[in-house]
Amino acid sequence: MSQNPSPNAQPVPMLDLKRQYHPLQGELMGALAHVLESEQFILGESVAAFERVATEWLGVAHAVGCSSGSDALWLALASAGVGSGQSVITTPFSFFASTSAILHAGATPLMADIDPVTFNLSPAAVEAVLNGPQGAAVRALLPVHLYGQCADWTSFARLAKEHDLKLIEDAAQAWGASWQGVKAGALGDAAGFSFYPTKNLSAAGDAGMVTTNSDETAERAQMLRQHGMRRRYHHDEIGWNTRMDGFQGAILQVKLKYIDGWNQLRRTVAKRYHALFHAAGLVEAGPYPSHGVVLPHEVVGSRHAWHQFVIRTPRRDALHDFLAERKIGSQIYYPIPIHLQEALKGLGYREGSFPEAERAAHEVLALPIFPELREDEQQTVVAAIAEFLS
Ligand SMILES: Cc1ncc(COP(=O)(O)O)c(C=O)c1O
Repeated sequence: MSQNPSPNAQPVPMLDLKRQYHPLQGELMGALAHVLESEQFILGESVAAFERVATEWLGVAHAVGCSSGSDALWLALASAGVGSGQSVITTPFSFFASTSAILHAGATPLMADIDPVTFNLSPAAVEAVLNGPQGAAVRALLPVHLYGQCADWTSFARLAKEHDLKLIEDAAQAWGASWQGVKAGALGDAAGFSFYPTKNLSAAGDAGMVTTNSDETAERAQMLRQHGMRRRYHHDEIGWNTRMDGFQGAILQVKLKYIDGWNQLRRTVAKRYHALFHAAGLVEAGPYPSHGVVLPHEVVGSRHAWHQFVIRTPRRDALHDFLAERKIGSQIYYPIPIHLQEALKGLGYREGSFPEAERAAHEVLALPIFPELREDEQQTVVAAIAEFLS
């Protein structure tokens, strides 16, 4: 195996937002200037307009803009009535906020292992927790639509019905994903989105949004996002300041017009990776890799938003370094499962608690995927991986 970067290899970025920004520069600048003129820097006209078009786009009754995806998850839980004395089951294989938002809402996180094919929370593992000694205190499930693919909503809806649970979606990575024709964000009792700059639909800073079909949950989210006020300076509950900026609302409103096309291009990129890896003879069936690459899989009946294109490979860390030497972007989402994070030692989980999540954390590698990624860049990525594996 050669460790010297091929002299002619072109760098490939993990993400290049300038390719999205430059064609939209005039439109985005105009939208920002409008906010400056309006002087509505917090919530205001541009956020309200974005909330309106977002509900139409998602097919959901309400959208409540806030200041990050983390806050959106906390707001979704709190406004759906999940809090102190209650437990919420979530996945150990996600960004930290999926669990910390539960703690922030005053509830207790419980975890169940993931499905090794989709990396999403396993309904069978959740059912085992519900039927175990800790099951009685569970009031909600918080599945994550990881990498842009919906968690198994048919199974979670059945479990929620049988056990009388709220269903909260962590849709941070899933703008444009759907499950049996229903878009992420319209599936559960409430959902939290993130518009962090790397997301499919992205702000120019931190921003997030709660969506729900419940009038009551939406009203509570609006109240909790500004210190529990329904009337100015009358605080009915302890909320927090988590309002969306006017600039972010304006940018998101512009970008929403283009998201269908961008997500379609992401599908094209994902399809091309499949073809290139197969043509290079690198693909193994999975779910676990022994020598080559296990490719991501779109579940029948669901639409993947291809937020990330995540392969599984046994010598993952060495491949990550090899690609970095060649200036080819790749990322590890996530190297440490949430239950093994230092800050969450107190939850009582340990190494071995969730073997699928722990194994995935050693084998997953996200490759560059964004709408403007070119075919020659994808060929460079796959050729470099073929070289590493040869
Ligand atoms: C699955 C998941 N949940 C929650 C979040 C939190 O979103 P934010 O970074 O906007 O607070 C993120 C984003 O990083 C995420 O990927």
